[in-house]
Amino acid sequence: MTDTAKLRIAVVGGGFMGRFHAQTVAECEIASLEAIVDSSETVGRETADAFGAKHIMSIDDALARKDIDAYIVALPDRSHEAAIPILEAGKPVLLEKPMAHDLETAQRLAKASAKGGRLLVGHILRFDPRYVQAAATVQSGDIGDPIHASSGRLTVRDIGTRMNGTSSVCFYLGVHDVDILQWLSGSNVTKVFSRSASKLMPSLGVQSEDAIMTVCEMDNGMVGSLFFGWTLPSDIPTGIWSRSEVIGTKGMVDIDVRDHGLRVKSANGWQLPDGLHWPETNGRITGDLREEVAHFVRALRDDTLFVMPVEDAMRAVAVNDAILRSCESGVQESVADWRI
Ligand SMILES: NC(=O)c1ccc[n+]([C@@H]2O[C@H](COP(=O)([O-])OP(=O)(O)OC[C@H]3O[C@@H](n4cnc5c(N)ncnc54)[C@H](O)[C@@H]3O)[C@@H](O)[C@H]2O)c1
Repeated sequence: MTDTAKLRIAVVGGGFMGRFHAQTVAECEIASLEAIVDSSETVGRETADAFGAKHIMSIDDALARKDIDAYIVALPDRSHEAAIPILEAGKPVLLEKPMAHDLETAQRLAKASAKGGRLLVGHILRFDPRYVQAAATVQSGDIGDPIHASSGRLTVRDIGTRMNGTSSVCFYLGVHDVDILQWLSGSNVTKVFSRSASKLMPSLGVQSEDAIMTVCEMDNGMVGSLFFGWTLPSDIPTGIWSRSEVIGTKGMVDIDVRDHGLRVKSANGWQLPDGLHWPETNGRITGDLREEVAHFVRALRDDTLFVMPVEDAMRAVAVNDAILRSCESGVQESVADWRI
């Protein structure tokens, strides 16, 4: 394939996650990294220079150019509506999870995509072989009729302090598990009863919950539970501490992601390095993120469906909306209809 056949991508937001995306695109055989769009001169230029791309200050400036075919948007959770003009301009977007920080914004994004560019929401676990195999096993009927399921993740408190109140733990972290619960079990969450705790973050000067626990009613008689928190001590050996399971009438699937099979003890103490989300292997990013970006590029090239429909990403946002309402009201809350 010649260079001219490559999909020319701009990454919007060159921060923590945008930088991984930028490297992944720069290493992709069928795409090229054209630009980093970041309103911070320092972050934008630094990330652009690291991967040989241009730095552009705004989405408007990027859209005025003719040399960008598609966008990866890795902006803070509450800024995802910035993808709307890109979709309205007919350009495809890979938008980092969560689709949006509330259902109304998610629905506006979905409407913009329905009339404009194609949209894939970057729920990275949809590209992780463990979760994909678990979902396929449940779908095959091998575990029988799902009865109950749970999913949750904890990470280090440093993530909560870095977010500094700019996102909720249920959007930055928990949206993964909300999607996992519904996708793996093949069942929608209809009602939630959620409680939050806020001791640690306020003591560190951050206006945020520490953790949220939820009991879910699901639409085929199943019951589910969700837990998420950014409470782990800073010196824990991994920032990914998650469990998911579905128990059915004939069997079960159980995913335990607290280490990835490699344990390192050095002068820095114990570490359990990431072996699947975006590990670097022989100088290149591999794992789930590479699969996600390659899937986005291939599906655009071949005009095939994305593995995750936009509706599933909206459904996860709708559940999160209900979780936050329930934390506030103290009673069980229904999940609003997410469809447009
Ligand atoms: N898939 C995953 O596992 C995963 C992991 C971490 C973060 N994320 C998601 O990635 C997204 C980005 O998170 P992050 O931690 O990288 O954030 P970040 O704060 O590190 O980076 C965001 C960048 O966007 C820039 N920016 C903000 N508003 C802008 C605008 N209007 N125009 C241009 N640039 C702008 C900022 O200058 C910053 O450099 C979030 O939605 C987050 O939930 C996903």
